[in-house]
Amino acid sequence: MKAAVVTLSDRGFRNEREDKSGELVQMMLKEAGYEVAEYRLLPDEQAQIETVLKELSDEKEMDLILTTGGTGFSQRDCTPEATLNVATRNAPGIAEAMRYASLAITPRAMLSRGASVIRNQTLIINLPGSPKAVKENLEAVLPVVEHGLEILTGQAGECGR
Ligand code: MTE
Repeated sequence: MKAAVVTLSDRGFRNEREDKSGELVQMMLKEAGYEVAEYRLLPDEQAQIETVLKELSDEKEMDLILTTGGTGFSQRDCTPEATLNVATRNAPGIAEAMRYASLAITPRAMLSRGASVIRNQTLIINLPGSPKAVKENLEAVLPVVEHGLEILTGQAGECGR
């Protein structure tokens, strides 16, 4: 499975902060057996994010795109809006599962507005921005995401259970 990691951070884009979250997502994906074929660091600009999400799914043909950052309540946070705008189908269960698992760790999990959607053959999932939140959210869904991708890409015809 080919995956892309997209970090959304104004400060990261201006080189004012190291992108530890993007690195962690890449590491976790590789450990789970994914080929991390693309990595982008972008500012919190909705139009730019939409363009890159479309490029990564339509031209680069990624199976999975994981974004980190820009899911909160700050006026600049627009990752979920960009993600929903490029969706061809909704896949809300993954975002729901991340918040459900995260709420057992911190009530602040309810402040992530992250979405999970499908664009044609590509699954796009928004993770929050901090490394701690990335780890907790991704651990909660990654084992099941693989089965979803197998179905999305036609590698698994039916759910055995
Ligand atoms: N989810 C988990 N599992 N652990 C966390 O520490 N932090 C929350 C939330 N989700 C957190 C979490 C906080 S404090 C915020 S503000 C939102 O994610 C949004 O984060 P973002 O703006 O960095 O995307």
